[in-house]
Amino acid sequence: MSQATIRGALTVGMGVVACAIGAVFLSAGGLLHEPEEVVTVDEGPQTGMVDSLEVQETDEIELSPAEMTRYASGETLFNSNCAQCHAVLDRVVGPALAGITKRRPEKWIIRWVKSPAKVIASGDLYAVKLYEDYERQQMPSFNMSDQEIKDIIVYIKTQQNAGMLARN
Ligand code: HEC
Repeated sequence: MSQATIRGALTVGMGVVACAIGAVFLSAGGLLHEPEEVVTVDEGPQTGMVDSLEVQETDEIELSPAEMTRYASGETLFNSNCAQCHAVLDRVVGPALAGITKRRPEKWIIRWVKSPAKVIASGDLYAVKLYEDYERQQMPSFNMSDQEIKDIIVYIKTQQNAGMLARN
């Protein structure tokens, strides 16, 4: 998926549903010329343009240009290394990764991705339980830098938030 909806705004009023979807198109290489592009879907004659900045009840996910670069890198890394076993919102072979930064500190996630076997062998209770819960399926180790793993985390967090908005 090369496109992520990272800003969603929904207002409901007088039978008119106006949906302002800000979609940011990210190239795989992380080259971003425009920080964001707002697509306005106008479903009512009287609604006019919806300026998402003026929408009151809005959940927004905003990424700075620097974060977008991280996101694009994370997306590429995730798709080529993790997606065969993980999705953000759904369990696949491994757990859904949404909320991972609430479950585990970033340092733990970095250690884990570099070597799940080491973390399990260290006796880490969370890891051991997870491994048992997933019928001792061994996640492979990844020879990634801390930064690359952090990029994947940015991707997961953004996808998770966009996904939550989409499912509202
Ligand atoms: C071959 C399948 C496979 C691949 C590829 C894989 N994982 Fe996993 N992952 C698992 C399984 C299975 C678990 C559950 C723990 C276990 O059985 O070891 C897991 C657990 C995790 C957890 C802990 C989840 C939680 O809810 O606590 C994280 C974080 C994680 N993986 C991240 C990644 C990332 C990031 C990548 C890509 C760089 C990746 N995984 C690639 C199979 C995989």
